[in-house]
Amino acid sequence: MKRIVYILSVALMLAGCAAKPHSERVDGMTSPDGKLQMEVLLTSDGTPQYSLKREDTDIILPSSLGFEMRGVLKSTDVDFARDGKAHKIDTKPVRSMHDGFVVVSTEHSSFDETWEPVWGEESSIRNHYNELLLVMEQPGKNTKMNVRFRLFDEGLALRYEFPDGQEDGYMVIKDELTTFNMADDCFAWWIVADYDSQEYEYTGSYLSEIPQLLPDAIRDNSSRTYIDNSSVQTSLQMKMRNGLYVNIHEAALVDYPCMHLNVDAKNHSLKSALTPGADGWKGQIQTPCHTPWRTVQVAETAAAQLANRMTLNLNDPCALEDVSWIHPTKYMGVWWEMIAGAGSWDYTRDFQTVKLGETDYAHATPHGRHSANNENVRKYIDFAAENGFDQLLIEGWNIGWEDWANCNKDYVFDFVTPYPDFDIAALNDYAHKKGIKLMMHHETSSSPRNYERHMEQAYTLMNKYGYDAVKSGYVGNILPEGQYHYSQWMVNHYLYAVKEAAKHHIMVNGHEAVRPTGLCRTYPNLVGNESAMGTEYQAFGGIKPGHTAILPFTRLNGGPMDYTPGIFHMNLKEWCGNDSHVNSTICGQLGLYLTMYSPLQMAADTPEHYAEHMDAFQFIKDVPCDWSESRYIDAEPMDYIIVARKGKKDGKWYMGGVTDEIAREFDIPLDFLGEGTHTAVIYADAPSADCYTNEQAYEITTKTVTSGDTLHVRMACGGGFAVEFK
Ligand code: NOJ
Ligand code: CA
Repeated sequence: MKRIVYILSVALMLAGCAAKPHSERVDGMTSPDGKLQMEVLLTSDGTPQYSLKREDTDIILPSSLGFEMRGVLKSTDVDFARDGKAHKIDTKPVRSMHDGFVVVSTEHSSFDETWEPVWGEESSIRNHYNELLLVMEQPGKNTKMNVRFRLFDEGLALRYEFPDGQEDGYMVIKDELTTFNMADDCFAWWIVADYDSQEYEYTGSYLSEIPQLLPDAIRDNSSRTYIDNSSVQTSLQMKMRNGLYVNIHEAALVDYPCMHLNVDAKNHSLKSALTPGADGWKGQIQTPCHTPWRTVQVAETAAAQLANRMTLNLNDPCALEDVSWIHPTKYMGVWWEMIAGAGSWDYTRDFQTVKLGETDYAHATPHGRHSANNENVRKYIDFAAENGFDQLLIEGWNIGWEDWANCNKDYVFDFVTPYPDFDIAALNDYAHKKGIKLMMHHETSSSPRNYERHMEQAYTLMNKYGYDAVKSGYVGNILPEGQYHYSQWMVNHYLYAVKEAAKHHIMVNGHEAVRPTGLCRTYPNLVGNESAMGTEYQAFGGIKPGHTAILPFTRLNGGPMDYTPGIFHMNLKEWCGNDSHVNSTICGQLGLYLTMYSPLQMAADTPEHYAEHMDAFQFIKDVPCDWSESRYIDAEPMDYIIVARKGKKDGKWYMGGVTDEIAREFDIPLDFLGEGTHTAVIYADAPSADCYTNEQAYEITTKTVTSGDTLHVRMACGGGFAVEFK
């Protein structure tokens, strides 16, 4: 095969020199079930391409692959390249790695394994694909680039591989040129591209409409830094006009910048747009190396899309030998009262922490609103322990909050010194005696260097007091200036923090970090990320219903989210004077414990608010956060999701759903239930419930059911439901 392909592709290139480039098929493969077909092509100017079909229906038309690399620098160019002025990049020499290729060989293989995640939506996952490795070089240049394709029943993945033994082993990326030429003008659910945040609300529109809608989406999120007016983020969920669901994302983002997608609306084509580093280039790589996977997931139904496990399967197996210390965790937090404005992280406003560690807080005048004080924390410990929670998060326990976010200060937190009214030893002792652990909080205020300086002592302090989970955070612009939350440098930082934490047997939940790409398979101590608009935005102006019916298609494609559900008191004005309103119902909040899968689930409201509805709170107490089986029953992106799951430990089935602003009714066959009769405890929105006007109206009923029955459920505007089968 090798020789023939090589001769053919050289001949093709020579023949094509004079004419307009055209494509010739090089090779191809089908998915294990034979339904998906992909082809590898080479244009007459030596550009590699791929295409994807499902049962002869086009999904991706021939789409080009490759890179533009920075050319070889002269010594005089070096300072210029480091001056951080991205707009000057184009004057640098460029080395094409997107055309002029010949195919050396193609190699086929198959893979089929079933593996068991440490925690997850199911206790075992099948990883089954056919593989095609396209080996290429640019004749006369000693440049080699391979593309590895994997075709699953659920979609296509590809990544670039740069083998050793080529002239420029060290490469600086100017642009990655991976293209996805969609076969039609798909409907897409998107958020605007941004190098720092994915805390946005979604818009649903055809690809061709994105450019005209982007300015509004940007205006609605005016506090954000967006990159340009034609890019969106992944995971991008789409629906083709023929009804197929197609999702573009990436898997195993390691030592590489995060990918967004530029939208060519006229041709409904998408092209990778990498996040630059401080020098304006899009990443540095050193052979032998490979990029993350670019994935095109395909599903016949929205429910099947939610069960797609390609992202996890494309990540390496678990790298940790001992995982016995990693566990699913249900927690409460001294948190929502600060987010909603009823309390504060800082201890005093009297002075700024001019010199970290030297400021004498003991002599400062506290303003009296500091939530992480001994008495308040004990109240939460009591309630969390009484109700069977595993952990209690406490934010604002450590000095530095007087001048944290957006002060652009390198040294803000030391992550080890508590405020004077937080007795770290006594509180941990108190909690442990009651059978729960405290959860650590490390807000870095986006100074990763400062975090890395203190990391060893911070994790050691956690070990000393018996903390085994940390919520980290990256609020504000990244210091050093010029780096972004999604640049290669930061991508490396987040993983460094997870690996260091593993050495200390610490689980990590990173907020504001780059959106996940399935790395939790390799490092299962990465138990959560925020990396999307979470419940906190209900207190920052409110979130439109429907948001939680799109997140499982997009944000959760890469891994679990610390969405922090469980708000029972929606009228914040009445509680703490905050003008925002939580646009959900109590049953809508209960449904989230099923629809927003995470091994780390919070009950985010306060003990007082739960005390008013202990009957509904019972569901949060009962619901597990680790599952042996999950069945997505019905769904439509940004409209509604219904899922049933079986608890890994208790072996019981649970079911939940959420809806957007439209009240919906369903008749759900209970065929997932085992034999015999079951008592269904149904938590449903009352007929009068509504996420804006009557949020706390619910009904709890019980019913005897069997697997042959159908359960009728109704969800109110912005509401949901939850069922526990006993
Ligand atoms: C933003 C996080 O999302 C939120 O949960 C946290 O309380 C604040 N940052 C402070 O770190
Ligand atoms: Ca956040």
